[in-house]
Amino acid sequence: MNEILQYNDEASNKLLEMYRTPDVQTQRREFLQYVRPALGQRILDVGSGPGILSAALANAVGPAGWVCGIDISDQMIEIARNHCTEQSWVEFHKAEAARLPFPDQQFDIVVSMQVLEYISDLGTVLGEFKRVLRPGGLVVLMDTDWDSLVWYSPSPERANQILAGWNKHVKDPYLPRTLSRQLGQAGFQVEKPHILTIFNPGYAENTFSNHLIDLIVPFVSQQGTIAAGEAEAWAQELRSSGENGQYFFSLNRYIFSANKP
Ligand SMILES: C[S@@+](CC[C@H](N)C(=O)[O-])C[C@H]1O[C@@H](n2cnc3c(N)ncnc32)[C@H](O)[C@@H]1O
Repeated sequence: MNEILQYNDEASNKLLEMYRTPDVQTQRREFLQYVRPALGQRILDVGSGPGILSAALANAVGPAGWVCGIDISDQMIEIARNHCTEQSWVEFHKAEAARLPFPDQQFDIVVSMQVLEYISDLGTVLGEFKRVLRPGGLVVLMDTDWDSLVWYSPSPERANQILAGWNKHVKDPYLPRTLSRQLGQAGFQVEKPHILTIFNPGYAENTFSNHLIDLIVPFVSQQGTIAAGEAEAWAQELRSSGENGQYFFSLNRYIFSANKP
């Protein structure tokens, strides 16, 4: 199997757990500092997932504004709708980033956090972002460069094999290094990007990396490229080495801001 990760029931619920960790809450707060949402604005959240970012945007724009989330996963749309029941000015629709179901110049801001690395036709998607933004509108993106991952393992050969399998969960595991250029090619005025590190220098249950283990194990096990049980053994070894004080995890994400001229 060589498919990217699909957010079905199991993966969606695991992602939701991960997104509730302090690591991801901090990351979301930092991302929002670049979005700077204001009362009354109209914001599109592409690949809105569980809707936690959309809810935060909705709080900022208030009932005079409008937040719209789109996602290709039915499960994610359902989780997001349940998350935002109290905010009538937020809506979620099942849609493809490459075919946004909106007229031109509908939004002040388009955000997409941890989504573009899953996408194959990025030129089309960035063209869609530009089309639905008003002139002067802002796009804010965040993606991971999986080459920046540093994760101690007592069995590095096995860990390398597992993490190489995990890199296939997205279309472009190294997107950030080319994203500024691709935004420029799509006609945006691009700002200097910012780095954001998720750092777990010790083991703890309620962390990004501990929840990441639970997404990696089923994904690489289904690929059939590693022996049965190897991913579980890797996970168990990581957690017990963590309990012995040997844990170390660090991963870089990058935030991109650009304007439609
Ligand atoms: C890692 S999650 C990020 C969720 C959310 N943006 C956040 O950070 O809170 C990626 C999401 O992008 C969605 N997605 C992936 N490819 C997509 C596409 N082509 N169009 C729309 N959504 C997509 C997935 O279904 C998933 O919900």
